[in-house]
Amino acid sequence: MPRCRESGEPPVAARRIGKNRRDNRGLTRRRKAEDRAISPGRTPGYPADMPEHDRPATWSSDLLRSPHTTADKAGRVRTMFNAIAPTYERVNRVFSFGRDAAWRRDAVRLARLTGTERVLDVACGTGDLARAFLTGGAARVTGLDFAHEMLVRAAARGGDAAWCEGDASWCEGDALALPFASGSFDVVSCAFGIRNFQDLRVGVGECFRVLAPGGRLVILEFSRPGGRVARWFTELYTARVMPRLATWMSGDRTGAYRYLPSSVVTFPGTDAVAQVLRAAGFSRVEIHPRTLGVVTIYVAWNNP
Ligand SMILES: C[S@@+](CC[C@H](N)C(=O)[O-])C[C@H]1O[C@@H](n2cnc3c(N)ncnc32)[C@H](O)[C@@H]1O
Repeated sequence: MPRCRESGEPPVAARRIGKNRRDNRGLTRRRKAEDRAISPGRTPGYPADMPEHDRPATWSSDLLRSPHTTADKAGRVRTMFNAIAPTYERVNRVFSFGRDAAWRRDAVRLARLTGTERVLDVACGTGDLARAFLTGGAARVTGLDFAHEMLVRAAARGGDAAWCEGDASWCEGDALALPFASGSFDVVSCAFGIRNFQDLRVGVGECFRVLAPGGRLVILEFSRPGGRVARWFTELYTARVMPRLATWMSGDRTGAYRYLPSSVVTFPGTDAVAQVLRAAGFSRVEIHPRTLGVVTIYVAWNNP
């Protein structure tokens, strides 16, 4: 089985699923049947042959009161993203009013690329940020995610015009046990991923470990606006309006769009996240709020 790694220790439960345009087309053809066969079995929470309409919601109202302390949060997160993968990007564009693409471009800009960087995009999903890094001038980008259905879509986009000079590969693996040797990357990025980790400290620690000296971790994540009016308005939108419409548009049955607002309001604030970054070893942490603080871009430097 092909392995997903840069060098060093053997990876744990990880595999490389595609590299560059030609390989990704190959992947799509070669593995279409296999993907269909293995995906439900990879998704914890219900048997592979259970009809769609009988499957239980991944996030019950009880769990949504405190999603970050749910013991099997990671399994539920994976189930949820495997389920919403087909409509994920479309729903993002519509319900962020197209801002999500601008936020990712900003994150790339704040990484201050020089053109030689090896980038690891952790929790890459369907590859939006990884693609932004390639078009933004990164030398090489590796996307890693544990939701197979998201990753298959990232690899299938190999035919897009965005894939020009750069070099990309995709890896199925866990952010909490990255299958790469220490110091393998110049930039590690993570967009809307850290909120979903089972353990934030472990995830951030892994990002720090795989960064070379002088490297930086760029995180894009939802946050709560500081101003009272902005907070009231965004929470009305994300808790009341968006979940209903997004659930309808995606046909989701896992509770993904109720998990989203609940996981944002119960997630540590920006200062607490910055503290976790410093505790992991980062020497300098920048905090850049965007769109009234609806999202925050963190840039954490690993300067010796
Ligand atoms: C909201 S999506 C973000 C995807 C992408 N970064 C973007 O900007 O659109 C969160 C992603 O994090 C992934 N994820 C969450 N926890 C993970 C973990 N422990 N290891 C790998 N991927 C993880 C999910 O599978 C999902 O694809």
